[in-house]
Formats: sequence, C-alpha cells, structure tokens
Amino acid sequence: MKKLQKIFFTATLMIAAVCLVFVSCTKEGAVGPAGANGKDGVNGLNGVNGVDGLNGKDANSSCRVCHTVANFDTKIAEYHLSKHYLGTSSSRNTKFCARCHTSEGFQEIQGSGQFTVTNDMPNATRINCQTCHKHTGFDFESGDTLSQVLFTNKPVYLNYNKNLTATDFGKMSNLCVNCHQIRGKTALVYSDTTLTPKVLNAAFDQLPYFPFTLSTNNDLDTVQYRAGRSFAVHDGNQSNLFAGINGYEYAGVTYVRTWAHTGFSCTTCHMNTYNATDKTGGHTLIVNKAQCTACHGGDKLTPVQTSISAKLVELGNLLTARKVFKKTTSGTGVVSYSALNTHDFNGKLYITPLPSDSTKTYAASSSMNTVSTSTGLVVYGNILKYAKDADWALRIGRPWTYGELGAAYNYGYINSELSIGVHNYKYALKLLQSSIDWLNAHPVSKK
Ligand code: HEC
Ligand code: HEC
Ligand code: HEC
Ligand code: HEC
Ligand code: HEC
Ligand code: HEC
Repeated sequence: MKKLQKIFFTATLMIAAVCLVFVSCTKEGAVGPAGANGKDGVNGLNGVNGVDGLNGKDANSSCRVCHTVANFDTKIAEYHLSKHYLGTSSSRNTKFCARCHTSEGFQEIQGSGQFTVTNDMPNATRINCQTCHKHTGFDFESGDTLSQVLFTNKPVYLNYNKNLTATDFGKMSNLCVNCHQIRGKTALVYSDTTLTPKVLNAAFDQLPYFPFTLSTNNDLDTVQYRAGRSFAVHDGNQSNLFAGINGYEYAGVTYVRTWAHTGFSCTTCHMNTYNATDKTGGHTLIVNKAQCTACHGGDKLTPVQTSISAKLVELGNLLTARKVFKKTTSGTGVVSYSALNTHDFNGKLYITPLPSDSTKTYAASSSMNTVSTSTGLVVYGNILKYAKDADWALRIGRPWTYGELGAAYNYGYINSELSIGVHNYKYALKLLQSSIDWLNAHPVSKK
C-alpha cells in the first residue's frame, strides 16, 4: 500500500513536472474547475499563452503560482536576510538542541514524534527551505494552498506541558511554535573534581516545571534555588506570551490572555508584505512595521515597549533590594540582573552574614559547556568546584517563597522573550505588575 502510494505520488509529480516543461499541456486547462489564477500572462514564461489570462485552471498554472524561477529567487534572497540563515546557532546540534537549532533535527522529530533526536548531529545544517516546506498535497484548486506546502501545521506538544497536551496555535503558527516555545528540560551533565570516583555524566534534576499547581504549591511555600538549576525560558517563549500562557500566575489574580491581535498568526506580522526599501517583511521574517503604522495611524509599538521596559526595571530593582537578584552595571553602563542561588549544588544553604567559620566552601559550577570548533558539537564542560562564597553579602540566606521565585521567573519570561511586550501587551504588563504587587504586599519582614 505504501509502495502504491509512492508510485502514485511519483507519477503525479512527473505529470506535473512534464506540464511545467511543455506548453502544450496548458490545453488541458479547459477541463479543470474555474480558478482565480491568471498569472501565466504576467510571468511571461508562457509565450503564446501569455495573453490568455483566462487559462488559469490547470495544473500548470496552479503550480506556477509558486513555482517560477523569479518567485523562488525572491524567496531565497529574502531568506538570506533572516536570522535563520544569518544566525550561528545551528552549532547547537546535540541531542537536546538539534530539534530546534537544525534542519535535520527538526525533520527527525516531526517524523518520529519524539521530543529529542536520537543522536548528536554533527553534520546537521541550519534552518532552510526544507525545514519549513514539504509538499503534503497537490490539490491546490480546493483552497488551503499554503498549508499544503508547510512541513507541519499540526497542533504542538509544548515542552512546558511536559509534552503531554497538544495546543493549537493555528495552521500558520504551529510550524513556528515547535521551536519558538519555552525550551523545557535539557541535560545538564556535571563532573565533580573532588569526589572519588568522579561523578561523570551525571544528569541533574531541574526545578519543577511551571505552572505549579497552586493546590500543592502556595505562593508562600518555600523552594530552594540551587546552583546549577535553571528556570530560564531560553529566549524562545514568543508563542507562550502571544497566547498569554505559562507565566507565573499569583493566586487570586485575574489574567487577561487575549488582545487585539490574538487572531493573527506569527506570519501575519513576521511575513507581511516585503518592503524593498528597508528589506523587511516576506521571508526575511523581520516585521515590516510600515504596515502596522498605516493601520494604527501612528506608532503603537514604542509606547508598549517603553512601558514594559520601565516595569522590568522596577521589578528588577525590587528583586535586588530583596536579595533575590544581583544587579550588575557593565563598564559601558548597561544594567543587568541575575538571580542569586539560595543553596549550593548539593543543597547546602548559603549563609549570610558571613559565618565565623570562614573556611566554609560551597559547590558550584566552575566552567560552562562549549561548542567544539573541530567537531561542532557541544562539549559538556560543567565541573563542580568548591569555593568560599564571594557573594555572601548579597545572599538572602533562606529559601525563596514561590511568590519570589514566580516574580524572578516572570522577569526572565518577559526579558528573554525579545519582543518587549509587543506579543501580548496586556498579559506581559499583568505578569510584571502582579509580581511587583505581590512583593510589595509581602515585605521581607512579614514574609
Ligand atoms: C503555495 C505554493 C506552491 C504551490 C502552489 C506548489 N508548490 Fe511545489 N513547492 C513549493 C515550495 C515552497 C517547495 C519547497 C521548496 C524547496 O524545497 O526548496 C516546493 C517543492 C516542490 C517540489 C520538490 C519536492 C518536494 O516535495 O519538496 C516539487 C516536485 C514540487 N514542488 C512540485 C509542485 C507541483 C507539481 C505543483 C502543482 C501541482 C506545485 N509544486 C505547487 C510551493 C508550492
Ligand atoms: C526548526 C526550528 C524553528 C522554526 C520551525 C522556526 N524558527 Fe525562528 N528561529 C529558530 C532559531 C533557533 C532561531 C535563532 C537562530 C540563530 O540565532 O542562529 C530563530 C530565529 C528567529 C527570528 C529572529 C530572532 C532574532 O533574535 O532576531 C525570528 C523573527 C523567527 N525566528 C521567526 C520565526 C517564524 C515567524 C517562524 C515560522 C514561520 C519560525 N521562526 C520558525 C528556530 C525556528
Ligand atoms: C524548543 C526549541 C529549542 C531548544 C530545544 C533549544 N533551543 Fe536554543 N533557541 C531556540 C530559539 C527559538 C532561539 C532564538 C531566540 C531568538 O533569537 O529569538 C534560541 C536561541 C539560542 C541561542 C542564542 C542564539 C543567538 O544567536 O542569539 C543559543 C546560544 C541557544 N539557543 C543554545 C541552545 C542550546 C545549547 C540548546 C540545547 C541544550 C538549545 N539552545 C535548545 C529554541 C530552542
Ligand atoms: C521559517 C520557515 C520558512 C522558511 C525557512 C522558508 N519558508 Fe517559504 N514559507 C513559509 C511560510 C509560513 C509560508 C506561508 C506564508 C504566508 O502565509 O504568507 C511560506 C510560503 C512560501 C511560498 C509560497 C508563497 C509565495 O509567496 O509564493 C514559497 C514559494 C516559498 N515559501 C518558498 C520558500 C523558499 C524557496 C525557501 C528557502 C529559500 C523558503 N520558502 C524558506 C515558511 C518558510
Ligand atoms: C502583531 C504582530 C506580531 C505577531 C502576531 C507576532 N509577532 Fe513576533 N514580533 C513582532 C514585533 C513588532 C516584534 C519586535 C520587533 C522589533 O522591535 O523590531 C516581534 C519580535 C519577535 C521576535 C524577536 C526577534 C526580533 O525580531 O526582534 C521573535 C523571535 C518573534 N517575534 C517571533 C514570533 C513568533 C514565533 C510569533 C508567533 C507565535 C510571533 N512572533 C507573532 C510582531 C508580531
Ligand atoms: C487591520 C489593522 C491593523 C493592522 C494591520 C495592525 N494592527 Fe495592531 N492594532 C489594531 C487595532 C484595532 C488595535 C487595538 C487598538 C486598541 O484597542 O486601542 C491594535 C493594537 C495593537 C497593539 C496593542 C497596543 C495597545 O496600546 O494596546 C499592538 C502591540 C499592535 N497592535 C501591534 C501591531 C503590529 C506589530 C502590527 C504590524 C505587524 C499591527 N499591529 C498591525 C489594528 C491593526
């Protein structure tokens, strides 16, 4: 049966391909159902038939809506301006990264239905035409043309939901959401220089996934934020913010999830009409903002981004005052915040103020994973090192409450999302404001 299908598919392709070559095929057009497509005349490839705008019903012209050299050249040129092409992250080609960072990895998980690829992929390539495109049908007369050439448009099993439930973001967005989502668990592999035998390749447990079930995790329950653990969303949570989901939501607060453009797809904005002047839109995936301004009658984005940036600073400073975050100002004046661990790797509480026993040492990671320049693979380089605590004066000296962890997570959720609130202004603002309100309502003294 499989084989038959394959032969049939090949035959269809061949007939269609033949039609692309021989002008005489266009005569068959008369049999097909009427179509809106009169583009033959425009692309000039069709000689005598060029004037015949009515002759737009057959396989020839239905394929040529897309399949002209000029159209593909345009797409290639636009794609060359996108970060999928320009970015360097296809070197993230190991088991836990390849599904989102390489073309072959993405294709493998789509075929296998697994959430990671089976092996490291040293020769994998960057995201390209074949990552996003595959013909799933040839019935272009009956509508839904574009989804027939996308690699997938199936609802997505979100990592955040432990890959248990499929969420439908809409046919055009599902493709993107496979990768542009909260990353979820990856393997952290540590070596311990002091233990014998050395604990090599030992995986480490992560913080529990959000969302916490509030019946078991109250905002005031305590939690350790151990060295090595991570609650980072990994810069890819655009789909989560767009849908208004997976932030830390405080008990008793109402969160609005929908907004003016909830009905849009990722492509409505990121693949809008190509603008040759500033090289945005189309397959560049850079938003052509001129199209937004025309409809908004002005710039709606800057006010959104300005107010979200201000709220981020307010929250960052509150968390710093509480000793949840540490604030760093670079030589050039750039301010950044990082979360300070409450416990060391092995679960020992960082004590503050400095204990009189100044020989106390704590276990933390001393080096990071790197990408090998010769093999292109990630080399696990996390090594545990025991040292005195240089940050003792900045530490909170107790476990966090979930309310504090939630506020720190919400800061990261918006800060890493990269649109600065544009993808869902209402939800973004509410996440930040409810975090600020909770911290103010639970001052450290009354915690
Ligand atoms: C809506 C646009 C569109 C239409 C209509 C369309 N194609 Fe395609 N086709 C594509 C895209 C996009 C690709 C992938 C490009 C790539 O891989 O470089 C593709 C790839 C192909 C391939 C390469 C093999 C594959 O499956 O990847 C063949 C053959 C093909 N198309 C034939 C056809 C034929 C025959 C028709 C008409 C029956 C047709 N296409 C109609 C967009 C379209
Ligand atoms: C196979 C996974 C994958 C798919 C599918 C995918 N992306 Fe991406 N996208 C990435 C990765 C990985 C990057 C970062 C690339 C880099 O920096 O090397 C990225 C980068 C981007 C960027 C640039 C971000 C920046 O910081 O400038 C935009 C915009 C984008 N993608 C939008 C989309 C849209 C829209 C779709 C769907 C039409 C999509 N992506 C589909 C993985 C994917
Ligand atoms: C669920 C999909 C997903 C997985 C799995 C994933 N990433 Fe990413 N990653 C992304 C997306 C999407 C971006 C791009 C964010 C952007 O620029 O908009 C990204 C960005 C990055 C960047 C920044 C790239 C740049 O040019 O700024 C690095 C570095 C990175 N990822 C490393 C990794 C590593 C290492 C792993 C495996 C341990 C991994 N990623 C696994 C989706 C993923
Ligand atoms: C990040 C995913 C992604 C990549 C990479 C990508 N495309 Fe597309 N492509 C899409 C999506 C999504 C659409 C549908 C766009 C829409 O709805 O407006 C599309 C539409 C198309 C179409 C049909 C629409 C038209 O205007 O003709 C063609 C042809 C096409 N792509 C060719 C290519 C080629 C060639 C490449 C490689 C240079 C490529 N695409 C790379 C996602 C992608
Ligand atoms: C309402 C229009 C709109 C929709 C819908 C939309 N985006 Fe965006 N997106 C934007 C704007 C505007 C920015 C900010 C770009 C800037 O400031 O230059 C942005 C930023 C981004 C970025 C950060 C990189 C960059 O270009 O600055 C990524 C990645 C991204 N979007 C992916 C997506 C994905 C994936 C979806 C679908 C889940 C999506 N977007 C839906 C408008 C949109
Ligand atoms: C068809 C018209 C139309 C287009 C095109 C359009 N928008 Fe909008 N946009 C609206 C309307 C209507 C609102 C809601 C106004 C309100 O509620 O005050 C809105 C609101 C917004 C908001 C929320 C601002 C606020 O103050 O609440 C953002 C962000 C936004 N649009 C982004 C975009 C981006 C990015 C684009 C371009 C890719 C875009 N829009 C294109 C009609 C449009």
